[in-house]
Amino acid sequence: MSPTIPTRRLFVTTALPYANGSFHIGHIMEYIQADIWVRFQRMQGHEVHFVCADDAHGAPIMLKAEAEGVTPEALVARIGAERARYLDGFHIAFDNWHSTHSPENTALAQDIYRKLDAAGLIARRSIEQFFDPVKGMFLADRYIKGGCPKCGAKDQYGDNCEVCGAVYAPTDLIEPYSTLSGAAPVLKTSEHFFFRLSDPACVRFLEDWINAPGRLQPQVVNKAREWLEGGDAQAGATALSDWDISRDAPYFGIEIPGEPGKYFYVWLDAPIGYLASFRNYCTRRGIDFDAFLADPESRQIHFIGKDIIYFHTLFWPAMLKFAGYKVPDNVFVHGFITVSGEKMSKSRGTGISPLRYLDLGMNPEWLRYYIAAKLNANVEDVDFNPDDFVARVNSDLIGKFVNIASRAAGFLSKRFAGRLATEWDTAGRHLVDHVRGSAAAIAADYEAREFGKAIRAIMALADEVNQYADRARPWDLAKDPARAADLQVACSVLINGFALLARYLAPVLPDIARRAAALTGLDFARWDNAANVTAIRPYEHLMARIDPKAIDALFDLPAAPAATAAPAAPVRAAPATASPATPAAPAASPATIGIEDFARVDLRIARIVDAQPVEGADKLVRLVLDIGEARPRNVFAGIKAAYAPAALVGRLTVMVANLAPRKMKFGVSEGMVLAASDPDGGTSGLYLLAPDAGATAGMRVK
Ligand code: 2FM
Ligand code: ZN
Repeated sequence: MSPTIPTRRLFVTTALPYANGSFHIGHIMEYIQADIWVRFQRMQGHEVHFVCADDAHGAPIMLKAEAEGVTPEALVARIGAERARYLDGFHIAFDNWHSTHSPENTALAQDIYRKLDAAGLIARRSIEQFFDPVKGMFLADRYIKGGCPKCGAKDQYGDNCEVCGAVYAPTDLIEPYSTLSGAAPVLKTSEHFFFRLSDPACVRFLEDWINAPGRLQPQVVNKAREWLEGGDAQAGATALSDWDISRDAPYFGIEIPGEPGKYFYVWLDAPIGYLASFRNYCTRRGIDFDAFLADPESRQIHFIGKDIIYFHTLFWPAMLKFAGYKVPDNVFVHGFITVSGEKMSKSRGTGISPLRYLDLGMNPEWLRYYIAAKLNANVEDVDFNPDDFVARVNSDLIGKFVNIASRAAGFLSKRFAGRLATEWDTAGRHLVDHVRGSAAAIAADYEAREFGKAIRAIMALADEVNQYADRARPWDLAKDPARAADLQVACSVLINGFALLARYLAPVLPDIARRAAALTGLDFARWDNAANVTAIRPYEHLMARIDPKAIDALFDLPAAPAATAAPAAPVRAAPATASPATPAAPAASPATIGIEDFARVDLRIARIVDAQPVEGADKLVRLVLDIGEARPRNVFAGIKAAYAPAALVGRLTVMVANLAPRKMKFGVSEGMVLAASDPDGGTSGLYLLAPDAGATAGMRVK
């Protein structure tokens, strides 16, 4: 540890993921970013507690559990059981993983609420809201559809029209219906609880909190100020409205104390889950939770995505402040991850499947390295580009860094029993001094979350080490027995250069650091370590190159369409999480679903306007489908074994029109076509569905 930096006490979190779905690449990116920063802080000798939890509450989880015929607790537990595979797989080392559905969270949420109430910041107001008389529940806007009041388009959501872009209230919809039951909703009054965020004391506090130097990134400060100051300042109004923090039963959440049938809105108790997880961890580890939070030296730091800035820079600090809790010291915001420039959203989850990546045997440190190389401290999106990924890993990480060790270690082991020279040539001494002297600058980049800059600096040093190798030419020296001493010196300089670079990369590549430690006998737990390598153990291969075929497999379909016993077997547009290593088992009878579940699938008659083979994908046909929209859909279907593409043109078939688009290696697939197949999923017995004569493109199939 550098003597100039006092030890910090850090409590670090990442956003709590909803517990009704698997991790997608966006989650993994956030966790990798935070994990790198945490590992770096630990290497500086700081005390760091890194926690996360499942965000378990809310209507979507309750409804999904209901649709599956399980309790929300069972659903959350099932999803939770998958977490370790991802986290361990990508070397993401949280100290604790807990849940917002926990005694700690209930106690903390109720305590915070009581204190806000005592401070006069909770208001009770009656509001009128749509209620589904069949389901017996109030409906959030996303569960109400109807005709657009402006353009008349059918089946539009309760808050905006996807056809003409109009924004409106659900009560404006023509013939509104509940997407849960199909019933016409009725207006009903209910008492709701509001956090009085518009209170001048709240506004004053938030102004100070947001503007504190170094707390938030400049882009985030601007955003938060826009929200805060967007009101009519002259009239003394702020843009902040009071926040509705209650929901009526039935709801999967935490009950509001003393108010039977009223629950906290999920976004009230979700961030409190940060504290709940930390408290749970403190209890297990014998750390004094209250003392930690009361310590003026401790820092509370949240890593989040740009879509949830509002909650974390307005609601959350204000809640904590006026309930008498420690307020966050930093909220570090990152952009989204795009795949080949295509946006992926949290809910759609398009992109690369992290589990598929692991199941294909791809090295997690390739991805950690690539993400680190592309990250900076701004709120910018990070693009995963397959070709760039292969190039950076194979040319930079392996070509420039790993190869230094593989070049030098073999000679040292074979010729010098692993012993290194301690007296070096002038160029070698200068080189190692220079690499060692870069520690502070690289540390500053890590500290500032400028990981891309840190990686560029490290790779520039790797270039210099390689230039030394090119000048010293150990492979030539090895041919001349008279130059054995020069060979030992050159290789010793190279191994020392490598060891320093491995230390600089340790926050990003913990597994390489572990192997480098085994090779060199050095301890890589701390950033500043002046020791030279004096001997090495036999070299073991550190990292393989990416085989571009693995990239094909990452984006490609499994070998055969998914098998199913259902009469019409969907031809999957792309595998969500299935991997070749774990093919989907032939299904027994699928679980029974309700009519409302079926109604959520938008099936349309599609005319195949064009069908082409896809270069580089044996099984795929690229279909251009007319479903009566302005622009035809592009769909990749794994049907080539059964159909010559040209024979498909002009045919009618059935497509799922509201399937989330999926980015594949060859382009975006915007739906899927339906086909029947044998239960064993053989591609020879594959039969595309076709409607009776008279059906036309765009007709709804119900
Ligand atoms: O947007 C989300 O995925 C939320 N589950 C994040 C919650 S972060 C924190 F507040 F819990
Ligand atoms: Zn409209």
